[in-house]
Amino acid sequence: MATKPSYRLDLKRIPQHVAIVMDGNGRWAKKRGLPRLSGHNAGMEALKEIVKRSDTLGVKYLTVYAFSTENWKRPQEEVGGIFKLLVIYMKRELAELHANNVKVRILGDYSKLPADSVAALETAIEKTGDNTGLNFNIALNYGSRDEIMRAVRLLAAECCQGRKTPDQLTEEMMSRALYTGGIPDPEVIIRTSGELRLSNFLLWQSAYSELVFTDVLWPDFTPEEYERCIAEFQGRKRRYGGV
Ligand code: FPP
Repeated sequence: MATKPSYRLDLKRIPQHVAIVMDGNGRWAKKRGLPRLSGHNAGMEALKEIVKRSDTLGVKYLTVYAFSTENWKRPQEEVGGIFKLLVIYMKRELAELHANNVKVRILGDYSKLPADSVAALETAIEKTGDNTGLNFNIALNYGSRDEIMRAVRLLAAECCQGRKTPDQLTEEMMSRALYTGGIPDPEVIIRTSGELRLSNFLLWQSAYSELVFTDVLWPDFTPEEYERCIAEFQGRKRRYGGV
């Protein structure tokens, strides 16, 4: 007999945007005496299931932090390995993502990635561009401060060119100028592996996000644990500065 879950997920109150910091691949591998890349490989498998469950639950936007502007500091072999996995993931999963009406979008300057990764990403973006189901956003070479600076430069240029004055600038314009322009802010950000910080992820967009932390390492993050995290979010009272 299947055991009943210890949490209660309200299917009528599924957040429309869930963002995830997928952390703990390296520790997962270390615990097993495996190379770090095996952890990333297992992380890719975990991601597949979370994308599927997001779609089934009716999450409208799923944003995952796959590679940060700081991750370039890792050994070259690991960096190259992550990008190879990305190509494998895109090649293997694109047909199914497309069949499921998933729309892929990249947050971050992915032009700096190796050519085969850029090509795989562009194929995915193009093929799924008109899809209307789950919006699957992958943050790659993404850093929130970098994103904010880029947006500030765009708005500053508008001012320098005389199209706007500084006091005409609004929060909406800033939101639109970010990589996430047009995407609603995440109601919840989940971080795995027990680390309690945002690490330069969605700093502007997370102004009112609920943060849910779990000790589970990313490769062990199952769709059930995902649902438990969403249920934890549903248990929070959101006041947006009110009472
Ligand atoms: C964080 O774990 C994980 C990353 C920096 C890479 C995320 C990559 C994947 C989930 C797999 C790749 C799949 C795609 C589609 C891009 P960590 O290495 O920082 O773990 P640690 O803190 O335990 O060392």
